[in-house]
Amino acid sequence: MNSKILDGKKLAKKIREEIAQKVIHLKNEKAIIPGIAVIILGEDPASHTYVNMKEKACKEVGFYSEIHRLQNSTKEEELLKLIEQLNHNEKIHGILVQLPLPDHINENIINAHISPFKDVDGFHPSNLGKLFLGQPSFVSCTPKGIIKLLKYYGVEIRGKHAVVIGRSNIVGKPIATLLLNEDATVTLCHSKTRDLAQYTQQADIIVSAVGKAHLINHKMIKREAIIIDAGMNRLNGSLVGDIDFHDVIEKVKLITPVPGGVGPMTITMLLENTLEAALRS
Ligand code: GUN
Repeated sequence: MNSKILDGKKLAKKIREEIAQKVIHLKNEKAIIPGIAVIILGEDPASHTYVNMKEKACKEVGFYSEIHRLQNSTKEEELLKLIEQLNHNEKIHGILVQLPLPDHINENIINAHISPFKDVDGFHPSNLGKLFLGQPSFVSCTPKGIIKLLKYYGVEIRGKHAVVIGRSNIVGKPIATLLLNEDATVTLCHSKTRDLAQYTQQADIIVSAVGKAHLINHKMIKREAIIIDAGMNRLNGSLVGDIDFHDVIEKVKLITPVPGGVGPMTITMLLENTLEAALRS
């Protein structure tokens, strides 16, 4: 069964070790320490957990990091002012505003205000446009990590039918675009799709980023499918993905576990993007 696992944890560890080595070189040879600023508003426990994980990962590879923990009531203009300061702060190469934001703040305005050169999340319209044009600059972390994982395990994407479930700006739309750029035939399904199984049953590669525990079972996939589970859901106190892992494992060719699949790759791609931003500075 182990041979069926796309082990994101293992690959993430390998890439993080390589990044840590590069950080040492950059410090010694150019006196540059890659720096990241993370901004989080409000008290959402899941978001705080993610931010703490990001901070820990940054420290482990030797980055400079600062976390701005702001109140939920923070005004949009205050947030824009902070971003403006960080855009001009030479110690900071990457800026990340943790999503979701409170309702009174317009996410699109915030994302567009981050310097595209410090946009390590890849959410700025200019970086999204470059991705769309097939000339990616900063690519959002989860989709980038998914492609890395597929390539590391030698999965051929060209000509395959990839079915993406979920059309978020963070995962669904950019992973569909990346797969298209890799010459897959892409079907993008979402909450209004009628008869989801009709599509997933035809998929060589399934990427699920919905946030619905055990949405996909063995009846919905074809034999030897390759499955990427970007879902993170709590079910009876444990963390599970969108795929019913134990139900599909016998039938699949390869699958990412939850936890230990896509999640560790996401944070690792944030480190990679920040290092890249520091190298370009
Ligand atoms: N919230 C959930 N995933 C992400 C992510 O990749 N980046 C940011 N900024 N917020 C998120």
